[in-house]
Amino acid sequence: MVDLSVNIAGLALSDPLMLGSGPVGIRADDLIAYGQVASAIVTKSISVNPSPGSPQPRIAKLDRDGMINYEGGPNPGIDAVAETLREVCPLIPCPIIGSISPRTLTYSSGLEQMVEKFVKAGARAIELDFKYLYDQAKGRLDFQADNMSSVLKRVRGVANTPAIAKLAYGSIDLADLAKAAEDGGAAAISAINTVFPAMRISLRSRRPLLSMNYGGLSGGPIRPLAVAAIFKLREATKLPLIGIGGVTAPEDVVEFILAGATAVQVYTAAQIQGPSVFPKLRSGLIELLTNLKVSSISELVGAAHDNVRQVEDRQWDAVAT
Ligand SMILES: Cc1cc2nc3c(=O)[nH]c(=O)nc-3n(C[C@H](O)[C@H](O)[C@H](O)COP(=O)(O)O)c2cc1C
Repeated sequence: MVDLSVNIAGLALSDPLMLGSGPVGIRADDLIAYGQVASAIVTKSISVNPSPGSPQPRIAKLDRDGMINYEGGPNPGIDAVAETLREVCPLIPCPIIGSISPRTLTYSSGLEQMVEKFVKAGARAIELDFKYLYDQAKGRLDFQADNMSSVLKRVRGVANTPAIAKLAYGSIDLADLAKAAEDGGAAAISAINTVFPAMRISLRSRRPLLSMNYGGLSGGPIRPLAVAAIFKLREATKLPLIGIGGVTAPEDVVEFILAGATAVQVYTAAQIQGPSVFPKLRSGLIELLTNLKVSSISELVGAAHDNVRQVEDRQWDAVAT
């Protein structure tokens, strides 16, 4: 028997396989379907008011297991989402985490009310998508790591709700953001979000596929960047970490755990393959850990840090995984 259970952000999860934030985390039928198989669900990032998002086409699949998107934050607003959550939470065995859109994080008011509405509707923790506050897409020049601490404190101020700070590569160093997350009282850090900018061009129309031309890259192609982010964050903070980016196979989960994550979120593979990706990953993970003679997944958290190559060991040998 392999023990896959993990604890993160005050939540006891049956396994480390959470659904990440994205468009399948809004509608009741999707939430119910993914909620039967994932160990936790993060909703799509929600704002105070409904938002239509960018014009179509705003999502394009890449050849294998990647995607580019410039969704522009489409969502029906917190009141509609709270109504859906009240309906679906009793039907879902796993915890739901409410994700709050970057736009809302810049408001001087409204954030606390949103957290209250999420929690009253059944959300057990809140994830804050900080990406667009400091990335190349729409980054605000005035956003500093300290602003992140104050946002987190405001969320914690609402009934001590566990807050997960979601980070991405951008204009502020991940280690500085990790310190700010600690100062703000974050319960955990999740990383990474999509990597911007990316582009695909249609050969037929001879123009970029997406309406906004550029998009954020996700899925398999970003996995090594995401593993590096978790490795770097593990060096910078003791906060629990959630690895996100290109998880498509059980081996990917173990790689994130070795880098220092306690759990992972799966988004692109979940949208492409549907809910069945979760039982597939779970049974594959049990088989893989059994072969590796690991009885509990938590034994592996951060293990790669004990084995980093020292300068004198470094050589250009073939990479054995
Ligand atoms: C179409 C699409 C929409 C997304 N929307 C959100 C969002 O609203 N909030 C958020 O924090 N992340 C969002 N993400 C990012 C994912 O949650 C995840 O961080 C990223 O895609 C990397 O993980 P993956 O490779 O498993 O997809 C979105 C990703 C995609 C592909």
